Amino acid sequence: MSESLLQSIRAIESRVRAAIAAAESIETLQAVERDALGKTGELAQILRGLKDLDDAGKKAVGQAGNVAKRAIEAGLAERRAALEAAAIAVALTRDRIDPTEPAPRRLSGHEHPVKAVMRELEDLFESMGFTVVDGPEIETDFFNFEALNIPPHHPARDTQDTFYVAGGPVLRTHTSGMQVRAMRKLGAPLRVVAPGRVFRNETQDATHEHTFHQLEGLVVDEGISIAHLKAVLDELLARLFGERVETRLRPHHFPFVEPGLELDFRCRLCNGKGCATCKGGGWIELCGCGMVHPKVLQAGNVDPERFTGFAFGLGIDRLTMMRHAISDIRWMMSGDLRFLGQF
Ligand code: PHE
Repeated sequence: MSESLLQSIRAIESRVRAAIAAAESIETLQAVERDALGKTGELAQILRGLKDLDDAGKKAVGQAGNVAKRAIEAGLAERRAALEAAAIAVALTRDRIDPTEPAPRRLSGHEHPVKAVMRELEDLFESMGFTVVDGPEIETDFFNFEALNIPPHHPARDTQDTFYVAGGPVLRTHTSGMQVRAMRKLGAPLRVVAPGRVFRNETQDATHEHTFHQLEGLVVDEGISIAHLKAVLDELLARLFGERVETRLRPHHFPFVEPGLELDFRCRLCNGKGCATCKGGGWIELCGCGMVHPKVLQAGNVDPERFTGFAFGLGIDRLTMMRHAISDIRWMMSGDLRFLGQF
């Protein structure tokens, strides 16, 4: 009786050892363990028969059972360690990062959306006979204010507070200083646009940034009128949006134009009915503009008796916001790749 039990124990042990050696995964190994050593496993069933044996038999079979159990446990532990090491080795090769590999294509740089709109505007104005000129971001008080009919204590300076550099120069608050620079350099008649970065001491919100972009336009010639101004801006909008857009001019004060105006266009989202984008009014403000003030022509060494001109200042960031339905201007300077990666 005890002899046949001892044989069974040996048979179980060798069968389980073979199963352990053949197990290719932790899961299979766990199943082998359950079958061999579990409460209802083969060894447990044999040991349950111990009670029917005499003392010598109990001792012999009991010992053999324990020896087999320990041998199986050792075999399981060894195999588990080997399988885990193999799994780690596979993961290390599969998940390896090569820091010298080139970045995926979508992470490579591209033009900023504001810059793209700026270039589109330059092309558009060049096709209408304008010359593109570039000017300094650090401007003198003279060109930024005084030459534009804004003397030192004029209240218009309050709305265009800026960052002053010790000794006088300012970070330009608008591109309008380029009107006088261009007239002095190129003389009349002329047609120029001057795109670039401008700066203001501004409380930031969804439509205001301390650093933004403008495109200044200036046309000086004999017999220039508001009709020319409106025609150029209507043409600009038609080309930007691919169809004619209704516009309106409203009076507005800027010391360097007379009359001074603001040009609005019909909101394209609601067709003028009023929506959140146009704040219910049905119109969207495009730019400040007007007829160049005689004092400004004089500052540009242009004879105001002979020549007249118009000027306008487009906000490029806001145009970019309308083009791409961007809800907050602060994204523009954020440098946030989640934003930039969308263009
Ligand atoms: N420079 C003005 C501004 O920044 C805009 C403007 C330009 C107004 C040209 C009239 C003529 O608000």
